[in-house]
Amino acid sequence: MPTPVLVSTRAELVEALAERRGRGQQVGLVPTMGALHEGHGALMETARAAVGDGPVVVSIFVNPLQFGAGEDLDRYPRTLDADLELCGAHGVDVVFAPSVAEVYPGGDPQVTVEPGPLGSVLEGATRPGHYRGVLTVVAKLFGLVRPDVAVFGQKDYQQLVLIRRMVSDLCLGVEIVGAETVREPDGLALSSRNRYLSAREREQAVALNRVLRRAISDAGLGPDSALGAGRAELRRANGVDLDYLVVTDPDLGPAPAQGEGRILIAARVGTTRLIDNLPIHLGAPSPTRTSPNDTEGDS
Ligand code: PAF
Repeated sequence: MPTPVLVSTRAELVEALAERRGRGQQVGLVPTMGALHEGHGALMETARAAVGDGPVVVSIFVNPLQFGAGEDLDRYPRTLDADLELCGAHGVDVVFAPSVAEVYPGGDPQVTVEPGPLGSVLEGATRPGHYRGVLTVVAKLFGLVRPDVAVFGQKDYQQLVLIRRMVSDLCLGVEIVGAETVREPDGLALSSRNRYLSAREREQAVALNRVLRRAISDAGLGPDSALGAGRAELRRANGVDLDYLVVTDPDLGPAPAQGEGRILIAARVGTTRLIDNLPIHLGAPSPTRTSPNDTEGDS
């Protein structure tokens, strides 16, 4: 696999894409904060499938605007060499890894993207300003890269829903693809933050996925029975400090009594905050599930 072109300025980015954009090729973007793992690899493959021969760009930028006071901005892992290798292995053409000054040349922006009511519930309730920071940087990345298609993981489902909403409300003209969460064989969702877990915490963390699957298997009588089953599973788990376990509709509105929904969990394991979610079918027996990975579907 050829090594991707690494660019760090806006001018270099424009130049790296100019010739292929000029030939009418579609541009795919995978926005990331680095510390890449095979979950990101799957996003890159999804972008490749979407743009065919067109260039796939991965942005690597730890965005200060989406971190609150006391969050892990300074200790967020920075692993550029390994990231480039993974991008190369997945056929990425361009890696855009700008500095903070390149993205925010005037310091904190005066104009930002307000996420609306959905930005202050679930993750937004414990991370005030987080989704304002996410949407603002994603809008900037769209302006800089000018992608036709952008791929985001379903793991941060609230982020995916908000980005879709931003693109629709602000008519940004970028196709958003939500890619399924990639999991360890025992069901733990891949996350850059998993590297903070001790061996014991890593074992405990798998409870998040168990809780979701247990709830899904008891969803036949509706959201309340699903949540009851999930909570029962949670009581059997050690070392998992629950923040929320909720069932919603696919757009994160109130859960329907019957039909398609989403179940989301956030919990602290040790000092690490983890999130996970899955689609849930409410009000009718779910098909038999056999593995931690076979309950996903596109959003
Ligand atoms: O999901 C992430 O890694 C980040 O929130 C994103 C979308 C790259 C914006 O900084």
